[in-house]
Amino acid sequence: MLQTAFTRMTGCSVPIQQAGMGGAATPGLAAAVSAAGGLGMVSLPMVPAEDVAVIVAALAKGATGPVGINFLIPFLDLAAVEAAARHCRVVEFFYGDPQAGLVERVHRSGALADWQVGSADEAKAAVQAGCDFVVAQGTEAGGHIRGTTGLLALLDEILAAVEVPVLAAGGIGSARAMAAALAAGADGVRVGTRFVATAESGAHPAYIQALVQASAADTVITTAFSGMWPDAPHRVLRSAVTAMEAFSGETTGEMDLGPARMPIPKGAVPSPTRDTTGAIPAMALYAGESVGNVARVQSAADVVRELAEGAERLLRARV
Ligand SMILES: Cc1cc2nc3c(=O)[nH]c(=O)nc-3n(C[C@H](O)[C@H](O)[C@H](O)COP(=O)(O)O)c2cc1C
Repeated sequence: MLQTAFTRMTGCSVPIQQAGMGGAATPGLAAAVSAAGGLGMVSLPMVPAEDVAVIVAALAKGATGPVGINFLIPFLDLAAVEAAARHCRVVEFFYGDPQAGLVERVHRSGALADWQVGSADEAKAAVQAGCDFVVAQGTEAGGHIRGTTGLLALLDEILAAVEVPVLAAGGIGSARAMAAALAAGADGVRVGTRFVATAESGAHPAYIQALVQASAADTVITTAFSGMWPDAPHRVLRSAVTAMEAFSGETTGEMDLGPARMPIPKGAVPSPTRDTTGAIPAMALYAGESVGNVARVQSAADVVRELAEGAERLLRARV
């Protein structure tokens, strides 16, 4: 199997990290990716720190491989970071300037720290802050996009700028794309959209069906879903922007938030989860340019196997 500085550092058996993705990145998805050899990640946005501790402890105990947790800087809860770092192999941050203090907290609890970045300057800042590895996110990515550069050019700049392992993210949905990123020097790939369309994902079935039907050209970078999180461009299905703009009400639906139901204001940031009701097509249907590789709902293990084995075959055939 392909081994890289990333697999050796984290203890994974394949160089694939599943992206943290709001309600889509459930503990079940992280556990399945981890069992298949990748780095499974959870995101627990708006979950109180005490609950994060319980969920992550149970995940880490049950998982057969390494797991990590993803935090968005605009919504950061320090207590949750500390609780998570005690149980996860990796604690990761996104969408804010790298902070040495945060990385130190993670290291003190015994976890590795990484930062998903959108530029070489941000990658250098993450390394200066003490990060063990970085994720280079190109503009092909689904969800919120940090920078303005496409993946291959960004990867090239970041590989030249830092010494730590670098993962490639954005538009990677096939063995061919994974092989290309590894051949270009990445130590692994981070995959989001492909894992949304898995049996273990927390995404709403109608959202997954929309991904199955879409291709890269059906995605767009927009600020249409800025409610709760302004000034943060994101890539979604274009159909979601059209449906949201045509929607006449103030709230598009409701979703679970702990034991309560939360109304979803029109144009708000959450993507629809299994428990979401309302106008699903008018909600934030995040999708990367990798969406063309989503052909059906698969198990997370099948996605990991397809990408890792296929990339390995392609790379070996070239040498
Ligand atoms: C549904 C969805 C939700 C996302 N939410 C997050 C998030 O909460 N935190 C984060 O760091 N990145 C998030 N991202 C971005 C991913 O980390 C990653 O950059 C992206 O998925 C890579 O592109 P791909 O979707 O083409 O694989 C999200 C992406 C998607 C598709």
